[in-house]
Amino acid sequence: MPQDRQHRVFFALWPDDEVARQFDEAGHLAHRSLGGRRMRRETLHLTLAFIGDVPAERLAELRGIASSVRLPAFDLLFDRRHCLARRKLFWAAASIVSPGLRELATALNERLKAADFRTEDRPFAAHVTLLRHARCDKALPAGDLRIEWPVRDFVLVESELRPEGAGYRVLQRWPLDQT
Ligand code: 2AM
Repeated sequence: MPQDRQHRVFFALWPDDEVARQFDEAGHLAHRSLGGRRMRRETLHLTLAFIGDVPAERLAELRGIASSVRLPAFDLLFDRRHCLARRKLFWAAASIVSPGLRELATALNERLKAADFRTEDRPFAAHVTLLRHARCDKALPAGDLRIEWPVRDFVLVESELRPEGAGYRVLQRWPLDQT
């Protein structure tokens, strides 16, 4: 692999098949009213820290940063459906952002910044995008969202832009502490 190739990467939480199925179902339901493009089930995730393009030789640094994070596992409850008109995004979110999630996102973003990686300046908004190009002016179908996600690890992901939308490859997984 040529050393000067750029890799578009980010840290994320990646759901197991059952949790992904539930997010996918919520996206399917919303799509009937809001239209747009559904995210494919195997791509559903929650971004912890978006990094962007990095050269291959810096990937080891990212792995080192992730390995230095020692934090406990936590549980998330997704109970909010939100359509962000400005970006035409429909997503699932948690009305209570668990301290464990905030701590993990903060630790990664701070360590990335300290190592001179470019990170997002916008505040961390924990969400799982389900639709892009959504018609946010339409009413959502009735029904509550309730998806429980026990988070036991986090991942480094490479994003590959393909004609059918972004394709994602999990490069590595790091466990969170379970006592
Ligand atoms: P989004 O779903 O709200 O667009 C891969 O692109 C993931 O990184 C997506 O979950 C995306 O969030 C998130 N992300 C955060 N900042 C980004 C940026 N500046 N460019 C592209 N994706 C970004």
